[in-house]
Amino acid sequence: MSWGKENRLRRIFQKDGRTLMLAADHGYFMGPTTRLEDPRKTLTPLLPFVDVLMTTRGVLRNCIDPKSGIPVVLRVSGGPTMAREPRVLEDEWLTTSIEEAIRLNTAAVALQTFSGSPYESRTIKNLSELANEGERYGIPVLGVVALGDEYTNKSNDSRYLAMACRILAENGASFVKTYYPEEGFDKMVNSAMVPLVVAGGPQPKDPKLDKDLATFQLAYNAIQQGAAGLDFGRKVWQSDHPIAVAKALYSIVHEKHTAKEAYDLFNKLKSEKKQ
Ligand code: 5RP
Repeated sequence: MSWGKENRLRRIFQKDGRTLMLAADHGYFMGPTTRLEDPRKTLTPLLPFVDVLMTTRGVLRNCIDPKSGIPVVLRVSGGPTMAREPRVLEDEWLTTSIEEAIRLNTAAVALQTFSGSPYESRTIKNLSELANEGERYGIPVLGVVALGDEYTNKSNDSRYLAMACRILAENGASFVKTYYPEEGFDKMVNSAMVPLVVAGGPQPKDPKLDKDLATFQLAYNAIQQGAAGLDFGRKVWQSDHPIAVAKALYSIVHEKHTAKEAYDLFNKLKSEKKQ
């Protein structure tokens, strides 16, 4: 591995080999998502409590202080948006050049693939070409698993997810972001060949559920079963207490906290000001 690539990976994965990433790339296809209408206001207070920010060049240039020092994983794929009728979010292209990633001093570039959709070949080709460019300049690629759920309905199926993760690693991803299935995540970790970071997903809709506790349970289960980290977005910044959520997640990822210990920490922190 080149010195530059290893150095960049080290900015993402801390000394314990784990990472807490904050995902805030949603605007590239969703526009001004709830609580991310003003990314500067939402994200700036959270940056000291996470290891990495995953975002777009637009958010970075317009809303993130370059002096913050936060390592960045740059979202470089996109194209279709929520406005498209009928909705075909799978139709993604590579939308950002490697020169731009270098200019922005990114620690890695992130690209989404859609296994099982009619766009899988194109999106996997996008990934392979990006990996070629990344190797040239020492920039790791984060492959983001999406399954084209409309076609496969498999986002809770660990065998299918294991296939998608492995395919991204085989095609050049240095690490992979995936959903966490209810069963079989440990097997996915074993067969992926590269570190897996787990996606957060939307906040649960059930009003009776304690959303934050559910977030910590998901995080704890994933880390226990071998995830190298988390890349949560909405579960953090759509919480009523985002800083407390970020700190509690950090305690699971880096300080061996259980879900219950993280929840206790969260409850303590949220009673304090501005958490
Ligand atoms: C798709 C993505 C998203 O753009 C985003 O990062 C998801 O974050 P979250 O679901 O935690 O809000 O990468 O998988």
